[in-house]
Amino acid sequence: MAKTKTAFFCQNCGAQSAKWVGKCPSCGEWNTYVEELLQKEDNSNASLWQKESLGNRSRNQPREIQDITVEKLDRFSSGDGELDRVLGGGIVNGSLVLIGGDPGIGKSTLLLQVAIRLSLKILYVSGEESPQQIKMRADRLGIINEKCFLLSETSLEDVFNQVAQLNPDMVVIDSIQTLHSSRLDATAGSISQVRECTGQLMRFAKETNTPAFLIGHINKEGNIAGPKVLEHMVDTVLQFEGDRNMVYRILRNTKNRFGSTDELGIYRMHDSGLEEVKNPSEILISDHDTRLSGVAIGALMEGNRPLLIEVQALVSPATYGTPQRTCTGFDVKRLHMLLAVLEKRLGVRLSTQDVFLNITGGLRVDDPSLDLAVCAAVFSSYNDITLPEKTCFVAEVGLGGEMRSVNRIETRMLEAAKLGFSEIYISSNGGGKVKSIKDSQVHAFPALRDALQDLFG
Ligand code: TYD
Ligand code: MG
Repeated sequence: MAKTKTAFFCQNCGAQSAKWVGKCPSCGEWNTYVEELLQKEDNSNASLWQKESLGNRSRNQPREIQDITVEKLDRFSSGDGELDRVLGGGIVNGSLVLIGGDPGIGKSTLLLQVAIRLSLKILYVSGEESPQQIKMRADRLGIINEKCFLLSETSLEDVFNQVAQLNPDMVVIDSIQTLHSSRLDATAGSISQVRECTGQLMRFAKETNTPAFLIGHINKEGNIAGPKVLEHMVDTVLQFEGDRNMVYRILRNTKNRFGSTDELGIYRMHDSGLEEVKNPSEILISDHDTRLSGVAIGALMEGNRPLLIEVQALVSPATYGTPQRTCTGFDVKRLHMLLAVLEKRLGVRLSTQDVFLNITGGLRVDDPSLDLAVCAAVFSSYNDITLPEKTCFVAEVGLGGEMRSVNRIETRMLEAAKLGFSEIYISSNGGGKVKSIKDSQVHAFPALRDALQDLFG
């Protein structure tokens, strides 16, 4: 009888230990070690994919680097403009993409939508839903690709058997946590199973040059469940974010071996699936009939895309001893700093006031170019005077109350002008001496004090 082997794994970081330990020496978390069975059916370490369907092939030989020719990355469009953009220009053949996100955010919907709209042979493996359930969802999404195959399966060996027969152009696994390999005795979703299955799928993708998408669950901290090695193994990691109660969803790239990570995709969830949002600036700004104090518009860059965004501030006298500062979508430390600048350099008495700040649309931003918009919104709410209509703010604010220029200022101003903002406030430090852009007036000032004086008199 084969000897039963077990090991202990940290459920937080995936570190392995021969005996139980209370505090993980790798990540420092307490009480995260769980024993998992490691019984192997045989001792060979060969790739399952090779064993199951390819037989033995000759191993790779080392080659001189100058002899290696690089063909252009072999990409194809997913039929979804936002996904293509986030992936860096389409799906790369042979790549393994992991997509994570909260339950119910729309991961399965996104990939099913891609699968049924592409006219390629696609295998959609689900360990979570039956084919009937998936078909019902597909019906809601409309167009059906007759070469999209559904498979309800949780055994990796069986999935590989089906793949070998079907020979699909792309594989979707929903989700990696439901898959298990019989080579390990651990339960599906355990660290060792997730690692093993991902490793095998990686070999499959590389050896057959077939792209594969994995859906990953996330834990309560918002990281992809399972070991960190999972994210190290795959080529691309996408995060699907957004408030489940709101209609907008954001697809972010946190790791990309085939392109940059600063592209962003925005979707709107409909009855009939996810719709690409081509003009995000238009939707992130609310159309107020009655204008309110404490609302300012800023222009930021998300990747290579300029995005106009609404900042809302509410300043009201503090009822408790310590005034509250609460932010949604903005760094609270940055807000503290900006409030201190307003207090010290401009004499605005904010230390007795509660300040609430909200970035609309459920976005989280950390672009300092929003500083001026935040200061203008706070100042406007504090004095209860509305900001002039069709005004946009783009500048960083320094500790001395000076305004600094930000990168890609022209792109941001153009976007604002395009959307009909007729007044744009920027820094006069270091920037070009543009007086106007399109039909918009550009107001450049060296310091926050000058800009606010110009606005409020
Ligand atoms: P789902 O894609 O199953 O999320 P995940 O795989 O990330 O857990 O969930 C999508 C949610 O979106 C679900 O609550 C229902 C809703 N939905 C729509 O609003 N419109 C649609 O067309 C579909 C298919 C789902
Ligand atoms: Mg799902």
